[in-house]
Amino acid sequence: MEFDTVLSLRKSARSYTGEAVSEKEIHALIHAAEESSVGHHNDKGYALVVVRDPEVLKRISTEGGERVGKPHMIYEAPLLILICRTKDVMETLEGFDAGIIAEHIHLKASDLGLSSIILFGFIRLLGKDADYLKMLHLPEGVSPILAVAVGHSPLDGKKRKEDRHFTVIER
Ligand SMILES: Cc1cc2nc3c(=O)[nH]c(=O)nc-3n(C[C@H](O)[C@H](O)[C@H](O)COP(=O)(O)O)c2cc1C
Repeated sequence: MEFDTVLSLRKSARSYTGEAVSEKEIHALIHAAEESSVGHHNDKGYALVVVRDPEVLKRISTEGGERVGKPHMIYEAPLLILICRTKDVMETLEGFDAGIIAEHIHLKASDLGLSSIILFGFIRLLGKDADYLKMLHLPEGVSPILAVAVGHSPLDGKKRKEDRHFTVIER
């Protein structure tokens, strides 16, 4: 797809059908993530966790409802990619790197005709002791920084409605 078209299709989708994301599409999303720039060449600082297990995804919604009164934090998407720090992460760079990795996944989803949304809320609100993390049995030191939910949506292939205008200061 033409790059400017991908940019115009990028939007945060908050409604998903039950249709699964294919293996081929997941592979393409991970490959796009791996084409990110990472500060200080610290590739070892990050791990991607591909969550498709419906029990884990459901647990996030249930826990969100029970503990913080927000049951729709991942919008029932069928796929969640957790961008995780490892024990080798550089804390000063992790937020930047995770954001860039997330944006690559988000844009690739648009390129594939899928819908997606970058998510931080459930990670922050459910915290490090969350049940979904216990269910994932992640290696020591691996924990999520940011996530991208991906799936099919009634918004697939539709352009973003709102234009964003930052203040641009020229000198
Ligand atoms: C770092 C980051 C974290 C975000 N976390 C959430 C979130 O937890 N829940 C949510 O509904 N949207 C989240 N969003 C999506 C933004 O709210 C969204 O980008 C904004 O509403 C603008 O919409 P657009 O992406 O369609 O342009 C996040 C976006 C970014 C970049």
